[in-house]
Amino acid sequence: MTDTTHALDRTTRLGELVGRLSLEEKVHLLTGETAFTLPGSDRIGLAPLAFSDGPTGVRGLKFIGGDAVALFPNATLIAGSFDDEIAGEVGQMLAEEAQRQHIHVVLGPTVNLHRTPLGGRLFEAYSEDPYLTGRTAAAYVNGMQGRGTAACLKHLVANESETLRNFMDSRVSETALRELYLLPFEMAVQDAHAWSMMAAYNDVNGVPATEQDHVQNRIVKDEWDWDGLIMSDWFATKSTAASANGGLDLVMPGPDGPWGERLVTAVRAGEVTEETVDGHVLRLLRLADRAGGLAGDGQEPRQRAQDLPAVDSPRRQEQLRRIAARGMTVVANDGALPLAEAGDVALIGRHALDTVDMGGGSAKVVPPYQSTVAEGLTALLGNRVSVADGVAVRTRAVPADPAFLADPATGTPGMGVVLLAADGAELIRYHSDSSAISIGWDDDLDQDPATAVLTTTLANEAGPVLLGAIGAGRWTVAAGDREVSAELGFHGKDPGETMLRPPAFDEVLELPAGATVTATVALDPVDWRELLLGDPALDLSEESHLLDMSAMGVTALVAAPAPRSDDALIADAEAAARAAGTAVVVVGLTEEDETEAADKATLVLPGRQDELVTRVAAAAARTVVVVNAATPVLMPWLDQVDAVLVAGLPGQEGGHAVAAVLTGELEPTGRLVTSYPAADGAAPAWDVVPDEDLVLSYDDGTFIGHRGFHAGHAPAPLFWFGHGLGYGAWEYGTVQSHEGEAGLVVDVEVTNTSDRASRETVQVYLDPAEDDQPIRLVGYRGVEVPAGATATVTVACDERLRRRWDEATGTWAPLASGGQAVVARGLGDVRARVSLA
Ligand code: BGC
Repeated sequence: MTDTTHALDRTTRLGELVGRLSLEEKVHLLTGETAFTLPGSDRIGLAPLAFSDGPTGVRGLKFIGGDAVALFPNATLIAGSFDDEIAGEVGQMLAEEAQRQHIHVVLGPTVNLHRTPLGGRLFEAYSEDPYLTGRTAAAYVNGMQGRGTAACLKHLVANESETLRNFMDSRVSETALRELYLLPFEMAVQDAHAWSMMAAYNDVNGVPATEQDHVQNRIVKDEWDWDGLIMSDWFATKSTAASANGGLDLVMPGPDGPWGERLVTAVRAGEVTEETVDGHVLRLLRLADRAGGLAGDGQEPRQRAQDLPAVDSPRRQEQLRRIAARGMTVVANDGALPLAEAGDVALIGRHALDTVDMGGGSAKVVPPYQSTVAEGLTALLGNRVSVADGVAVRTRAVPADPAFLADPATGTPGMGVVLLAADGAELIRYHSDSSAISIGWDDDLDQDPATAVLTTTLANEAGPVLLGAIGAGRWTVAAGDREVSAELGFHGKDPGETMLRPPAFDEVLELPAGATVTATVALDPVDWRELLLGDPALDLSEESHLLDMSAMGVTALVAAPAPRSDDALIADAEAAARAAGTAVVVVGLTEEDETEAADKATLVLPGRQDELVTRVAAAAARTVVVVNAATPVLMPWLDQVDAVLVAGLPGQEGGHAVAAVLTGELEPTGRLVTSYPAADGAAPAWDVVPDEDLVLSYDDGTFIGHRGFHAGHAPAPLFWFGHGLGYGAWEYGTVQSHEGEAGLVVDVEVTNTSDRASRETVQVYLDPAEDDQPIRLVGYRGVEVPAGATATVTVACDERLRRRWDEATGTWAPLASGGQAVVARGLGDVRARVSLA
């Protein structure tokens, strides 16, 4: 039987199942049952499908405080390897993580682009470049779905920033939509047949993404002939009939939402045809069928693998460490890296002691452990390393480290939680391993709690302790006879932000050693109906799913030894650097900056980190800077230091991976996935704040990132997309091109002139003959070459990058012949140009 006949047979069979259901039953299946599950149906053998975030770790069904799962290197590190095998391996590993937890659909990859470096959520997405993004996504999806777990491409489409994301309108030309923002989706559909997608929060050209007949029906389903399912982003659906008719197949989460009875009524009223509903159900059953959630033809649901590597197994450690290192990027190096084999090293910085291994928001997971650079480097270099804390890097309090807390009831790390009803009755009492919990969202209580009481014993020494809390409500945090209190409320208009960026407070108190803390919060749920419907500018309909969001969000205890002053920390760092001779300063961003639900306002490193680097560089003989951030930061001290390594958000093995890279045990083979602007504002696309009409214009068209820099739309960047030195040294020899059967092929001879084996990523850009067309990456291929050896690398270029969208005819047209193939290590280091016929 051919694949097509098999698919047709399956579709006929699935269609029969749809036909057995009443309208009410069908509609019931089209909204989630809980935050992350769907209703099943015994009658047709449909299991309740389970979904889980996210792109770099399969968190499970709890939004906060779930079981420990493997934390992967973030998306920019995966893309930074420019290697399909790495992306495929990540997809396979995530499928295994999903299978262990009986998850059918992993909510990733995120294939939105790094349009402006201010986007808060870029750490979850791959790159500024659509081709690198699409190719990485396709490899990841192939790896994942090859193991029977569904991937979900998100967020369809033009969701490149977070500010007012539920209400803003991305105004994008059809050309930019096709050539840039839809391309990764198209590639992952054509090259990997992704089984599902997620429609974004924002509007696109005036129409909510969840109602985009043009994008969802016309382009994705019809033009691409794609038979997968489109679900809404969580609470993103803004209407009943328009979304059902506009191509959305499934509303998430549940059990409430704008479909349900309202969709049944809309069908009865003739606003939505039953055939349309059937189409959605068919796609849902097809997804279930593919992901092992449908029993049929006498088959049992797919067997789940039994012997999967544990989240902290040696196998996972090796994989996660290697994958992180492969994406790390050496952006500057005067020879200080790898570190010399002898001599002392002063390791400095808050990020060295408290390495940021993941970004904030729905991509967060509870890892089995996180490793710091201090642990990693000390494990490798022993007493050659001295460690000094650095300046403060956050402005907001963070949930307490569970190791600093012990639940008095169990004696184990964490805290005791009691939730009370309005009449004081106890609703639930439990132990939480984490100091952060979510209330009223993914729990299962009969009534809304009115009060939460958190109890714990601190592992503090007598003296100053930072104490406080996170989450909306009226708080009293008591320790012995001391207490602090605050009334915390939400200010934004975005219910997601309340979940992901809740208000916080803290104070320093003098406490006796081993203080017992009781934090009580009177919960004040936000009335979104009043707040959002009451604002005419938002223009929300009564049907909007956002109005169902009554979640209180995150509730957490803040407790930590009181921090020392920045002045004292800088003085100590200088002294340590002077004494050791070699300093490694780890600086970076935190989940305050790199998070879902908020954008950045600047690329300047937070706090006094720039000053710390400058002062250390002046004191040390050699200074290496490690940037623990996924996205561009400014480096005003670049000329004063000897080497810079961009380490991304490297996952649970991050500290060990950074250490292995610093010592040269592993090569940091990454290339930048996004250009680093030289100054704030100096980028082809910058603003992320919509105007007063909530419009964000993508005026930059197809000239984002290196395409725009190259065209002179912004001053030259500090570092170009594609830049990355690794530990080899490369000479480029002959470059030849020809038109192969599948398009342009470029053969490039490279010689590793260094004294160690190394990996080179050969990048081919196309500089089109047309003046109005941006230069663009069209192909790349990695190669491992022994010291002193030469290799010829054949780069097959992707024909989808050699077409232009013609708005006049509404079709693709090939680019004019001619132009040049540009072979470059990032466009700041062009090695060859070949004229094309
Ligand atoms: C995010 C999605 C995520 C969903 C479920 C939303 O806030 O935008 O990417 O999959 O939450 O957690």
